[in-house]
Amino acid sequence: MRRPMIAGNWKMYKDVNEAVELANGIKRAVFDTENVDIVVCPPFTDLGEVGEMLTETNMGLGAQNCYWEAEGAYTGEIAPGMLKSVGCKYVIIGHSERRKYFGETEATIKKKIKAAIDNGLIPIFCVGETLEERESDKTMEVVKVQVTDGLKGFDESYLETLVIAYEPVWAIGTGKTATPQQAQEVHAMIRDLLKGLYSENFSQAIRLLYGGSAKPDNIEELMKEEDIDGGLIGGASLKVESFVDMIKTTSHLYAQVQ
Ligand code: 13P
Repeated sequence: MRRPMIAGNWKMYKDVNEAVELANGIKRAVFDTENVDIVVCPPFTDLGEVGEMLTETNMGLGAQNCYWEAEGAYTGEIAPGMLKSVGCKYVIIGHSERRKYFGETEATIKKKIKAAIDNGLIPIFCVGETLEERESDKTMEVVKVQVTDGLKGFDESYLETLVIAYEPVWAIGTGKTATPQQAQEVHAMIRDLLKGLYSENFSQAIRLLYGGSAKPDNIEELMKEEDIDGGLIGGASLKVESFVDMIKTTSHLYAQVQ
């Protein structure tokens, strides 16, 4: 059985003091929570402090982006090894906001996935269609191309740790969640695609997260779907209460089916 993951993408919210307060609140509330991988992805400037707080806890630290070179004259960029050095275990790659506002392409995303894995970081690779693409019935085609291009050339043992997050762009920060059926349909397609590209075993082992207006009142329905293995949470991860609620709901759900 796949172990579920609830990851908080804090985006460009929380200065270092606010980040420490939020991480502390979550840490206190989930210290004895089992069955779920708990991840927080604060802004770069918070990683050092939050990382220190999370050592030897059941919470993992992630970054929201990285560059693909190990070092060099790349003003403003952060290398995967630097993320490791402050305690990161995960890195979000190819978030739709990075594609939209910062010109990320399948080519740059692929380099970042490789750089992350080469440095022992677990990539949380984001895919998802825009509203226009959904309305013109291109969802499956678009997501298929994103997954295929992002992973092209890597073999399955190399991608062992990979996590994929399906985040329909029209559902991010809009309050419009994909229905559990809409999300499940795309997740099932991704799993089937992975089976074709790699193997049945690989496709069954990889975790697929859903992201896009996931919150305490819809997480349970989403998590009950067969191919949804967790959530990548934006807005609802910025408050202790809502994030912890989602973690606990997921934990209880998985405790029942074990
Ligand atoms: P919201 O949960 O705020 O819609 O954001 C989702 C997201 O983009 C997580 O990466």
